[in-house]
Amino acid sequence: MTVAAKVRARAQALREEIARHDYAYYVLDAPTVPDAQYDRLFRELQELEARHPELVTADSPTQRVGGAPRADLAEVRHAVPMLSLANALDEDEAVAFDARVRDQLQRAGFATAQVQYACEPKFDGLAVSLRYEKGDLALAATRGDGVVGEDVTANARTIRAVPLRLKADAPRVLEVRGEVLMFRRDLERLNERAREAGEKEFANPRNAAAGSLRQLDPRITARRRLHFFAYGLGEVAGGREPATHSATLDWLEALGLPVCELRRVATGVDGLLGYYREIGGQRARLPYEIDGVVYKVNERRLQEALGFVSRAPRFAVAHKFPAQEALTELLDIDVQVGRTGALTPVARLAPVQVGGVTVTNATLHNEDEIRRKDVRIGDTVIVRRAGDVIPEVVAVVPEKRPARARLFQMPSRCPVCGSAVERPTDEAVARCTGGLVCAAQRKQALLHFAGRRALDIEGLGEKLVDQLVDADLVRSPADLFGLNLGTLAGLERMAEKSAANVLAALDRSKSTTLARFIYALGIRHVGETTARDLASHFGSLDALLAADEAQLLQVADVGPVVAASVAHFFAERHNRKVIEQLRAAGVHWPEGRGKAAAPRGPLAGATVVLTGTLPNMTRDQAGERIVAAGGKVSGSVSRKTSFVVAGTDAGSKLDKAQSLGVRVIDEDELLQLLGEH
Ligand code: IVH
Repeated sequence: MTVAAKVRARAQALREEIARHDYAYYVLDAPTVPDAQYDRLFRELQELEARHPELVTADSPTQRVGGAPRADLAEVRHAVPMLSLANALDEDEAVAFDARVRDQLQRAGFATAQVQYACEPKFDGLAVSLRYEKGDLALAATRGDGVVGEDVTANARTIRAVPLRLKADAPRVLEVRGEVLMFRRDLERLNERAREAGEKEFANPRNAAAGSLRQLDPRITARRRLHFFAYGLGEVAGGREPATHSATLDWLEALGLPVCELRRVATGVDGLLGYYREIGGQRARLPYEIDGVVYKVNERRLQEALGFVSRAPRFAVAHKFPAQEALTELLDIDVQVGRTGALTPVARLAPVQVGGVTVTNATLHNEDEIRRKDVRIGDTVIVRRAGDVIPEVVAVVPEKRPARARLFQMPSRCPVCGSAVERPTDEAVARCTGGLVCAAQRKQALLHFAGRRALDIEGLGEKLVDQLVDADLVRSPADLFGLNLGTLAGLERMAEKSAANVLAALDRSKSTTLARFIYALGIRHVGETTARDLASHFGSLDALLAADEAQLLQVADVGPVVAASVAHFFAERHNRKVIEQLRAAGVHWPEGRGKAAAPRGPLAGATVVLTGTLPNMTRDQAGERIVAAGGKVSGSVSRKTSFVVAGTDAGSKLDKAQSLGVRVIDEDELLQLLGEH
């Protein structure tokens, strides 16, 4: 084999191996290799492709990072319309559906004592159509109005559960219909980061999935963890469709697509209701949201005999779970103060049952939301509970508004400490300016510090923190380590045994990791992930403390906002003092640099073309640095190129860049972007 052939074969082998691991992880939910090994393979492929851009293929896993942003999402006309489903809102309606199906089949001449149904969960996400041509993902589109949707191909390519290439024997054209969704834990993480950044949280996984997929910038989609379940077909050409829906789903699974394992074939109406109850019982434990189950007549020839009414098939129905919404009276609006001083208006409600849980509070997010929904105190409101997410006020019922209903006004002073409240004009969130003077912020800061993902101090919960702060025994996290048995046991409702337990937990918490410690400090915009990135980049607390904003900007995924926030935090004398006190109290961690994750860095998501002779390095050397910084090197200029690095004697690539309006830079500017100047 020639060298070139060997390189080509290695790239192909890497692509296949990575695709296999992605499949095991995202589709089978059964990881086959440790993350570190996966990262190594990924990085090797990235480096190979950087050195040999001609080897980059459209289905390479390195191409999942998302291309350049667009101005809008193009319209796509579906080859086969995307239909909707009729609903059955209770068991009687499900029974009626089965009776109707049998009746119609009988009249069409089919003997049908009992019908077989394919049953699946009804996923609470966003319907999409994935079009594969000769096995390659060619187009992804949202449902839109069912006839015309939006082209979200670049975004869908970043979803690792979506195969870029089907396994063997795919038909010439295969349109796969399914649902893009976000798992609950991923939504929680996303919302946690949004909270830390003072941004708006997603109310439920469906909004999060839709908001993440319908993005102009695919790099944002790439950073959100989305999932996909296939549940049907659109156009199929050059291949045979199986005779039943259940066989179709098995076929899709064999082609490498994720299909939900909760699917079953049920017989007759008893089978349907049994399935409904079984899945209803599992619903709360599932890692994703579902809002019902779907029944589809299993045999295709029976489906065809039943046909369609308006835009929904007669052969299928969505049997919905009881609504997770209820009407109640909004008694008052309180304002809660968070760890970073953010003021959140909270609705106090007349107690109401929503999906089996009594709800008395619901978030109103912020002042703008209250205005937008025109919520007034005294209104009758619709509250919704979506899974684990905090209940929210969805809307008011204007017809029920009493004459005494009054408008809410965000206070100009913090309700806890009386400090001024500020709301920067470009932000949705109002904040108390009291910092750690504010008891509410101090309490939240301590709870955060002691939290499971931070120093994990068992037994230091809300009640104890309230007592410690109210009695002015603890002002900063460092004060926690000065507590003794006498003080603790002297608190109300604190037995000596529990006091001793808390002291032991405090002692245990002293041995931690740098990432946890950084996270525990509660720096604005620094969540767990950023804390980990900072820890592995700097390796020691002193190196981090010594870093200026420019050095912070070199950390993977750290942008100007985070860098400024971190620098500002460590510049505060008070914060430095607390850190020193914590170290003096014996809080410690092993130090040393960790590995940096592969597709991160100042050039993450950027596609770069090199042309001409650079003054100080070869193109290969430049390429390696670009890849190490998370970027991608491509051999040809297109609209998707982020920028072209041009040296002397640059030729047609430079011309092309100029004609497309792609940015052109020199070696000097490249070094600046790499943060190496
Ligand atoms: S089948 C011809 N199956 O429900 C029927 N839909 O109202 C096409 N959905 O827009 C849909 N889970 O977003 C089907 N297992 C499932 C589903 C499902 C969720 C959604 C889908 C569609 C809506 C139909």
